[in-house]
Amino acid sequence: MKAERLVKYRRISPAHLNQDKMKRYEKFADEVAELIRRGVLAPGEKVPSVRHASRTYGISPSTVFQAYYLLEDRGLIVARARSGYFVREHAQRPLHEPEIARRQAETTDVDVSELVFSVLDSLKDPDTVPFGSAFPSPDLFPLPRLARSMAQSIRDMPAQEIIADMTGGNGHLRRQLALRYMVSGVMLPPGELVITNGAMEALNLCLQAVTSPGDLVAIEAPAFYATLQVLERLKLKAVEIPVHPREGMDLEALADSLARLPIKACWCMSNLQNPLGASMSEDRKRALYELLHTHQVPLIEDDVYAELYFDNQPPKPVKSFDRDGLVMHCSSFSKCLAPGYRVGWVAGGRFAERIGRLKLMTTISPSVPAQAAIADYLQHGGYDRHLRKLRHALEAQQDAMLASAARHFPASTRVTRPSGGYFLWFEFPETVDSLQLFQQALAQGISLAPGPIFSATRRFANCARLNYGYPWNTRSEQAMELLGRMLRSF
Ligand SMILES: Cc1ncc(COP(=O)(O)O)c(C=O)c1O
Repeated sequence: MKAERLVKYRRISPAHLNQDKMKRYEKFADEVAELIRRGVLAPGEKVPSVRHASRTYGISPSTVFQAYYLLEDRGLIVARARSGYFVREHAQRPLHEPEIARRQAETTDVDVSELVFSVLDSLKDPDTVPFGSAFPSPDLFPLPRLARSMAQSIRDMPAQEIIADMTGGNGHLRRQLALRYMVSGVMLPPGELVITNGAMEALNLCLQAVTSPGDLVAIEAPAFYATLQVLERLKLKAVEIPVHPREGMDLEALADSLARLPIKACWCMSNLQNPLGASMSEDRKRALYELLHTHQVPLIEDDVYAELYFDNQPPKPVKSFDRDGLVMHCSSFSKCLAPGYRVGWVAGGRFAERIGRLKLMTTISPSVPAQAAIADYLQHGGYDRHLRKLRHALEAQQDAMLASAARHFPASTRVTRPSGGYFLWFEFPETVDSLQLFQQALAQGISLAPGPIFSATRRFANCARLNYGYPWNTRSEQAMELLGRMLRSF
């Protein structure tokens, strides 16, 4: 009975199956997988028996068996004794992982701001489905509890602190941060922490502290678009190093560039890289540190998503391997607690003093009440409990987006499966132009972050980053279905 439905389905026909005799079973498996993704074959449903499928499609029973074994391996169907094969209730994420991008230009000037601003401008409409957003839903943050901390800490603040805390940063906050570093195995010498206006200021100051205009900086490809903008603003040249979707920065490529080029700094996210979500293993983090240490190239470690891990253990930063202050470790509360409070920091290693001075020469200090509020919350508000809840919510939302993508996007779409954070990186079929897709989607009230904004050389034209940081609902599902239809029209 299911076989009739399969035959009626446009893309599956005996003629189609015969096109590629060499890999008939793979083609047949792909066609059945596509039906599962589209829900034609629903979870729990029986797939056609081997005999039935073999007769209907004119393929041998062994070809059907091979196809079903393959689908079993992919986690899409299960065999039940004496009953045949059934679609799994929770068919495992059937879209494949993207491959690592190849290197292109040796070094490049950066000029992406116009493109980035035009994309960011269009993300402001609160009525769009926010797949392009850089933040999780504000509903996931304990804002009322933070407001209480704000009121309390301002009430209790000695008059002198409101001025004194501007230069060094709020003392309570510095202690709380040092404590969190200590628990994660990093002992910070006092004075290494500089409190900043979000991680963005920290990253800017770090780069300024160790480079001059015209210098070369090793960055990731793809990279967080603001990284590119900072390089552009400071007139630095990018050396793009490919990032593997799971393993992180390609260390061989980095070693090669370090050996040949006078690179002055390396900017890298070792945990939950934006946009790929890659996290480096501890061995690779250590190797990255040793490599940079050999060349005495400072590392600017952007670690803003580190608290949003789904594994049992918090990931270590490269900073935890730092022997002599070569690593500037930057983070903030923007992604996991208090977006808009603009409180971040850098553990600046041997560059801390220079970074602190640059801060005094530019913004002087982040808002003292905001720092005090966060310090109070860290001490009394139940931060770790909040983080556990947040990670749980994000993990469930990731499952929902992956399952939805598998249902609605073309089968050849590739997607990352990060072990944390709230972004998925999609690599669509080659024919897809993600800037065009972005415009079409926006016209239908859906935002997304198109691939080229993540590259100094405007690569990743058929890729996009989608945010799953908002609770999944019917609107999200409909938006994915609509995107799927747009993707098929390219
Ligand atoms: C990778 C990365 N680094 C830094 C930042 C900036 O963080 P903040 O908002 O704390 O300045 C962001 C925010 O989007 C980010 O995604």
